[in-house]
Parts: sequence; structure tokens; C-alpha cells
Amino acid sequence: MILNEDEMIRWGEAIGAAARTPLFLFLKGPLGAGKSVLARSIVHGAGVEGAVPSPTFNLMFRYSSSRGVDVVHMDLYRVTDPAELWELGWQELGGQDELVLVEWPDRAEGMLPEHRWEITLGPVAGDLNARTVSVIRFGVPQSLPGFPVSVSS
Ligand SMILES: Nc1ncnc2c1ncn2[C@@H]1O[C@H](COP(=O)(O)OP(=O)(O)OP(=O)(O)O)[C@@H](O)[C@H]1O
Ligand SMILES: [Mg+2]
Repeated sequence: MILNEDEMIRWGEAIGAAARTPLFLFLKGPLGAGKSVLARSIVHGAGVEGAVPSPTFNLMFRYSSSRGVDVVHMDLYRVTDPAELWELGWQELGGQDELVLVEWPDRAEGMLPEHRWEITLGPVAGDLNARTVSVIRFGVPQSLPGFPVSVSS
């Protein structure tokens, strides 16, 4: 699937508005792929107002949404040691009300929850406003709003 930026944002808002928890979404793809754009639109779609900065340095931000969802947004790009994940409370994530969004989950390889979605974004040659989107389902997570097509793994 290919989405332009407006479509990406609308999909993210739909996810945020409708996703049931607990839910883990792992966002993959190279620098500038659009992981933060998608994460931010999910946070906004869940009813969180205001700025949603990129957690590149803080590693994790937590938001309480107007519809009662706790949205956790992480960026593991700078994580080099699994001990950092422990300090962040990695093992406790996935609470009943939590929607957990993780950029650069490859930094936590081998420590990902069984039930999850992995969304990979990538560039499209010749179209700066377009991104490829592929979605893989692992285990039996809650459904991913706005994305009926899924591949099981
Ligand atoms: N279809 C699209 N979907 C998402 N972002 C797009 C799209 N087209 C263009 N963009 C642009 O691509 C950039 C994506 O930046 P973003 O910070 O979301 O990337 P990222 O994957 O989070 O990178 P990083 O790995 O550095 O965190 C933004 O400047 C955005 O405006
Ligand atoms: Mg980012």
C-alpha cells in the first residue's frame, strides 16, 4: 500500500480514535520514513491535544487521552543497551488501557511482546510525499483500525 502524508495522518487518527487496548504498534523504517508522523497522528486521534514531540532524546512520552487511553510513545533509536529498556519499564508495558507506539523496535529485538502489529514505512522513488506501508500481524493483537488487510506471521 502507498499513502501520501494526508492519508497517513488520517489513518493514524483513525487508529487513535478507535483502537482497543492493550495494543502494541511497532513502527519501522529508515530515518525520515514517517514513523513519528504516524505516531503523532495516532496520539492526536486518541484525543490528546497539543504538541507531540519526537521522543528521540527522552525515549518515552506518556499521554492520557480524552477517551481514556494511555498512549505511550517511544523512540528506541538511541538505545544501545537492553538495561536502558528495563529502566524505562519495558516489561511493564501493555497495561489494560495502554496503546504503546514504538519507533525503532529493532533495538528491542527478542524482547517484543507476542501479540503486536509491525508497521514498516519506506520511501517511494520519485515521490517525496508518498510512503510504502506494510503491516505484519504477530500473534492475535486487537484489530488495527483502518487496515483490514493483514498478513499473519
Ligand atoms: N506519506 C508520508 N507519510 C509520512 N510522512 C511523510 C509522508 N510524505 C512526506 N512525509 C514527510 O516525511 C517526514 C517524516 O519524518 P518523521 O520524523 O515522521 O520520520 P521518522 O520515521 O520518525 O524518522 P526518525 O527515524 O528520524 O525518527 C516528515 O517531514 C513528513 O512531512
Ligand atoms: Mg521519528
